[in-house]
Amino acid sequence: MNFFNVYPLMDIELVKGEGCWVYDSHGQKYLDLYGGHAVISVGHTHPHYVQKIKDQLDRIGFYSNSVINRVQEELADKLGKLSGYDDYQLFLCNSGAEATENALKIASFENGKSKFIAFHRGFHGRTSRAVAVTDSAKYRAPADQVHEVEFFELGDLEGVEASLKKGDICAVIIEGIQGLGGIYLPSQDFLQGLASLTRQYGAFLILDEIQSGYGRSGKFFAHQHFAGIKPDLVTMAKGMGNGFPIGGVLIRPGIEGWFGMSGTTFGGNHLACAAGIAVLDIMQQENLLDHVSEVGHYFTQQLKKVGPFREVRGKGLMIGIEFDYPIAELRKSLLKKHHIFTGVASNPNVLRLLPPLTLSAKEVDLFVNCLQETLGELKRPGVSAQHE
Ligand SMILES: Cc1ncc(COP(=O)(O)O)c(C=O)c1O
Repeated sequence: MNFFNVYPLMDIELVKGEGCWVYDSHGQKYLDLYGGHAVISVGHTHPHYVQKIKDQLDRIGFYSNSVINRVQEELADKLGKLSGYDDYQLFLCNSGAEATENALKIASFENGKSKFIAFHRGFHGRTSRAVAVTDSAKYRAPADQVHEVEFFELGDLEGVEASLKKGDICAVIIEGIQGLGGIYLPSQDFLQGLASLTRQYGAFLILDEIQSGYGRSGKFFAHQHFAGIKPDLVTMAKGMGNGFPIGGVLIRPGIEGWFGMSGTTFGGNHLACAAGIAVLDIMQQENLLDHVSEVGHYFTQQLKKVGPFREVRGKGLMIGIEFDYPIAELRKSLLKKHHIFTGVASNPNVLRLLPPLTLSAKEVDLFVNCLQETLGELKRPGVSAQHE
């Protein structure tokens, strides 16, 4: 049977992973600065993570959401404490798109409206409503065109307010840090403005932390770098399971669930929750939030020695290096010659770095030296590095 041909493949078969490293079928080792689309949070095959999943599998791997599940309860407890959202409610699902879909739907059930505001360069997933709030017409099939969505530039608070004033907006959805678009950060004023305007006009604020959450920015969620922002809904996935499919929505107090409002067969199963608990245990035991801040800062300091680049954007270990030219050749050379995985963005001039959160300073040095060497070989300059 052939696969449905939707993924361009690199000619590499990965058979093993350990920490920030992956190994191919020929035994070649690669430094993983991309984590398979920002998924690897606590490192490949972390012993505690592996053991937790094995132990859970020995007991029970799955039962549906129709029985008491203490593993879910432990996950919710630990997540509440570590994220600072202890007073919120948790809905568990299986992926980022599903988290987006549920957040939009819960908002719509709650205020009875159906129109959404989203932002240029934003990405929220590929299911119908999620892709409708994603700024890429290419991903939308004719059947996805039924949703009403208005797009604004990131930072256009006036535009958003003018639209909210009409009174028909259900929710505003925004990434904590835009990922696929090329690592763009909303400003503090903008996010705080959205929080207060949505409250004023009876719309919901949804923070998509699917890529920027779970410690990637050095805070549990990227929006927590700014004071006073408590979204109505927060979506999570990717780093939440370190590769085990699990996603979730945090729902503010006061939004009441009812039987049938949402649901999923696999969401919140025992095995996925065990993976999710292991991730939180490791984040806490290894103090990963502080580590990410420190190593992220070190990373950008070191990049300054190689630059200048047009811009270095991001926070923690969510880094975009923007060049004056497309990075395709550079990225290929980093992979083929130096065996380093890096990522692309929809902005073709941006190299996107989303390493495991356990990345060490030594691994940063290794990358920075290889980048310098590669830029020299390609006779390409970078252009002034700045990073928050
Ligand atoms: C910000 C953001 N939202 C949603 C998604 C969709 O997640 P998934 O691919 O798990 O459906 C992604 C995936 O890249 C993402 O980066």
